[in-house]
Amino acid sequence: MKKTHLTFLLCLLLTATGMKAQESKTYILSSGKNSLAVTAKDNESAHFQYFGPKIQEKDLPGMFETGAVYWSKTIPVFGIDNYGENALAVEMPDGNMSLDLKLADRNLTSDDKGELLVLTFKDAVYPLTVKQYFRHYKDTEIFSTWIDITNNAKKGDVKLLNFASATIPLPRGDNYLTQFHGGWGSESWMNEEVLPNGQSVIADKAGLRNAFGSNPGFMISLDGKPRENSGEVFGGNLIWSGNYKTKINAYNGDIKIISGINEEESLYRLKPGETFQTPEFAMTVSNEGKGGISRAFHKWGRKHRLAHGDRSRDILLNSWEGVYFKVNQETMDQMMADFAALGGELFVMDDGWFGDKYPRDNDKTSLGDWTVAKKKLPLGIKGLTEAAKKHGIKFGIWIEPEMANTKSELYEKHPDWVLQHTNRPLQQGRGGTQVVLDLTNPKVQDHVFNVVDNLLTENPEIAYIKWDCNSDIMNYGSLNLPKDRQSELYIRYHRSLQNVLDRIRDKYPDVTIQLCASGGGRADYGLLPWFDEFWTSDNTDAYQRVFIQWGNSHFYPAIAQASHVSASPNHQTRREVPIKFRFDVAMSGRLGMEIQPKNMTAEEKEFSKRAIASYKEIRPIVQQGEQYRLVSPYEKKSIASLMYANDDKTKAVLFAYRMDYLNNQNVPMVKLQGIDENKVYKIKDLTPADPKKPSPLDGMTVSGKVLKNVGLNLGSTLSRPWTSTALELIAE
Ligand code: GLA
Repeated sequence: MKKTHLTFLLCLLLTATGMKAQESKTYILSSGKNSLAVTAKDNESAHFQYFGPKIQEKDLPGMFETGAVYWSKTIPVFGIDNYGENALAVEMPDGNMSLDLKLADRNLTSDDKGELLVLTFKDAVYPLTVKQYFRHYKDTEIFSTWIDITNNAKKGDVKLLNFASATIPLPRGDNYLTQFHGGWGSESWMNEEVLPNGQSVIADKAGLRNAFGSNPGFMISLDGKPRENSGEVFGGNLIWSGNYKTKINAYNGDIKIISGINEEESLYRLKPGETFQTPEFAMTVSNEGKGGISRAFHKWGRKHRLAHGDRSRDILLNSWEGVYFKVNQETMDQMMADFAALGGELFVMDDGWFGDKYPRDNDKTSLGDWTVAKKKLPLGIKGLTEAAKKHGIKFGIWIEPEMANTKSELYEKHPDWVLQHTNRPLQQGRGGTQVVLDLTNPKVQDHVFNVVDNLLTENPEIAYIKWDCNSDIMNYGSLNLPKDRQSELYIRYHRSLQNVLDRIRDKYPDVTIQLCASGGGRADYGLLPWFDEFWTSDNTDAYQRVFIQWGNSHFYPAIAQASHVSASPNHQTRREVPIKFRFDVAMSGRLGMEIQPKNMTAEEKEFSKRAIASYKEIRPIVQQGEQYRLVSPYEKKSIASLMYANDDKTKAVLFAYRMDYLNNQNVPMVKLQGIDENKVYKIKDLTPADPKKPSPLDGMTVSGKVLKNVGLNLGSTLSRPWTSTALELIAE
């Protein structure tokens, strides 16, 4: 933090002498627990001054006096006096590469989302306006910031070279950086290390599946090794599904975070009269450790970001791992019947159902031809929705509308609709034939809209869509964009996708849509407003899912994490684990199944029926409750454990899994969180392997004080490899 007395006194003096030209005001946006303060000085600049525990106006003088504030320009611009990293750099039509932003207007308003501070800057010489926004989302702990840039010139393009959404200072100290990386089948692997001096970068340039390699969510601890339920932590996440880049600069005793769309290979030309809006950077601070950050994001996600965040999710069976491409009327009907008998609520037919000229029997053909493969489904989709009705469950369907195969009727008719170079051979992806449609082309946007529109107008009974995306951007080039706008493809693709999704949601606000990208390739907040949930990973191995779901839970709520029980041995890892372990893991998210029920044993079916019934009981707690991570699988303490509690702490659910097994390993006492120390709780085993032999804890009564401070002894419950437990705690 910088000593700032002089500047502050100067501001006061000028304000006091009524020199309107240099009037300065500090704006405070506050949530229930935290505040963010920005000082805006007319005709000059604005400074980010504070983000931390809640303050009031009267606290400010003391904070300025004692230097408890930052003096960090809210938008460090390139070209005149900013020597370090910048958030905004442009090239004016005459080649001048500098910016000189002067504050022209400031306005604190509020709308249905919450408070909004708008600072308007104008360049001192050039007709360019930059607006900066700071928002607090009401009833949450989340704040956000972004900018927009307008070229007000009558002629001449302004080239945007760098256009970050946020510049956030943090105090340098004993900081750790928590970030999440992975790939197909291993999403959101947590990485936690001391924040080094210099620059740390979290970035992704995949084009379409930008949450695979690196997730945009990250945390920085302010007081040492991060803990789950205590300690000061900052959490930030860029709300953008495209390429992004977050730079964490730790130089010279300060931290400065600069986050936004990844500007690499993305030069953007702002035409006269055009405005470019950057995505929001969402953030919060907490003195309740990483768990505090996660709970703040979960609540905000449910309230402000996910589609239908307050609606309870159906328990579904997805056909993929059960039958892969071998979809047909009889098998679908049988799967529906079997799943309905287990208490399931929704059946989703995955890949393999479409393609008239080229039936989709494998991944080499048919993407783009979204009509049923008649041989497999002679009764059409109607045959399936009617079967679902007969079995008393809902019906959903898989599509991958942003894509084509070169072996498809769509490609034969419209070879110009795919991303490509005119003078190079086409690189083809999955199945050796998959290509990406050029969504910047309005005709392609209509096609994608029509895929959904046709399905839903012809079959209004479809309750759920799984929207997949199994490619990144290859053949970087658009036949639709002019040659001086080719470099805007990465950005325009995502804006076009948003346009299509807006059209879909305007017409079909109610349908549930899952966001899938070969698993969790799009598990970020960028597209979640149009989607209800994401497919967490193609890896359904319950053991590895404990890690994947643990990582994801740092920013994304359980209601958004599709978590399915699949066959054993697992198809991705060949691991064999009991049905109970598989259910206990899947029940900690949005429960589903991904299996051919016909191949399950009678015991597995009997268990599944009981577990599904139990999940219905605890669904509101898991899907809408507060999550607490208790024992991390990363700490190698032999178990992993997490729990959920409802708002009034009358009901909670505890999950625990045996992760390692050695004879000399102890199972640690599990201390619960989110429960009331003054209440007494009765324990119920939700998923006993044998209903006649529930967990020894079943039926016991324990005080909240003991659960929190002494903990539960799960030693005998988790005494063998692949043992697990799911317990409900109900206040008496
Ligand atoms: C992707 C998805 C899977 C499944 C297949 C179908 O890999 O992640 O869940 O839908 O495509 O081809």
